[in-house]
Amino acid sequence: MEQIQIIDSKKHVGEIVTIGAWVANKRSSGKIAFLQLRDGTAFFQGVVVKSEVPEEVFQMAKNLSQETSILVTGEIREDSRSKFGYEIGITNIEVVSESHDYPITPKEHGTDFLMDHRHLWLRSSRQHAVMQIRNEIIRATYEFFNNNQFVKIDPPILTGSAPEGTTDLFETNYFDQKAYLSQSGQLYMEAAAMAFGKVFSFGPTFRAEKSKTRRHLIEFWMIEPEMAFTHQEESLEVQEQYVAFLVQSVLDNCEYALDVLERDKEVLKTYTKLPFPRITYDDAIELLKKNGFDDIEWGDDFGSPHETFIANSFEQPVFILNYPKAIKPFYMKPHPTREDVVICADMIAPEGYGEIIGGSERATDYDFLLEQIKNHGLDEKEYSWYLDLRKYGSVPHSGFGLGLERTVTWISGIDHVREAIPFPRLLNRIYP
Ligand code: 4AD
Ligand code: MG
Repeated sequence: MEQIQIIDSKKHVGEIVTIGAWVANKRSSGKIAFLQLRDGTAFFQGVVVKSEVPEEVFQMAKNLSQETSILVTGEIREDSRSKFGYEIGITNIEVVSESHDYPITPKEHGTDFLMDHRHLWLRSSRQHAVMQIRNEIIRATYEFFNNNQFVKIDPPILTGSAPEGTTDLFETNYFDQKAYLSQSGQLYMEAAAMAFGKVFSFGPTFRAEKSKTRRHLIEFWMIEPEMAFTHQEESLEVQEQYVAFLVQSVLDNCEYALDVLERDKEVLKTYTKLPFPRITYDDAIELLKKNGFDDIEWGDDFGSPHETFIANSFEQPVFILNYPKAIKPFYMKPHPTREDVVICADMIAPEGYGEIIGGSERATDYDFLLEQIKNHGLDEKEYSWYLDLRKYGSVPHSGFGLGLERTVTWISGIDHVREAIPFPRLLNRIYP
């Protein structure tokens, strides 16, 4: 008997196969037992008919407890009534390992309880669906950048630099020196762009932010492309093409997961239309003021209600361009005709999901950068390698960082970024 995964059902309709699975749920009558099974690839139904199997197989099926692991043997059949589309008509069951008193029962549980049991909660169908979407976004990211001749470069995790400011650094000992967990690979990616032209990184980043919001993680994954001989306008085009490609890939390859999450696919389709709208920071402030927001002045950063209002004024993700210099990192290129703003953009996702991309054109002038480093209270010595990039054939270059979990949260249509990563690190949580 061939052992298969249920996801490959299409190729095995009418065949007798064996599948390794866990019991997610079950219901039975005197004559028939319906097992809700999961084999890691999908959730599916197993049907045991009393009159068609030996009595001990039927009794075993009726008594299986939640999360018992089993090998089921039977025929793969099409099942047009289920979302998944296939089921197995079970003829034999072999218990691999019993499970007793599984803590996550089909009833509702509170979030804290579920987070304490994250190692088990991952088995549930909603979490499974979100992780499928995360996996597709990761796969599509590599496809997009490989198709566009970007080279994947891995920046270090242990660093001496603080590209995004010194307030949220995770400090650690590096023998007799201090080191920080990476906040962003950007500075290293700038060096790599001068060596390889177009590059991208994809790795974990860390922010010791005391933020307890539905958008903030302490440890999150970021995709950071960097492009030599590229101005901001071309970078924005790459960003919108990339994000539209991610949404399209999820629509193409994660239909089942989207259905489990009850995500509206028609809405997602509107996010694949290019170009995305662009609005300047100045105009965004004006838009907010005209609409009764008197808690914000020119020069302030946007809070989540502001971002949500701006996003709701458009149908697609929106770029907010050219923020005040004072609220952005040291490396951004100054505006050619204005002292007070820099050449940058954040991409704000629709539906209140907030900023998913931060990016900019990078300053190319040695003296300007050196002054910025000093003004930001950074140690000049730590950045001398970075300044070298402006000494030896400096070129216009731009890049951006997309937060993986915020993007997964948005495309999945879930409430909180903590469900977009297998084991979230949150302000008060490093367990499990
Ligand atoms: O806007 P950020 O801080 O930009 C950078 O780090 C740049 N160095 C990127 C670059 O230009 N190479 O972060 C980029 C993105 C944000 O837009 C957001 O999606 C995500 O990273 N992000 C977070 N996601 C989850 N939890 C947090 N605490 C996050 N902080 C940023
Ligand atoms: Mg940002």
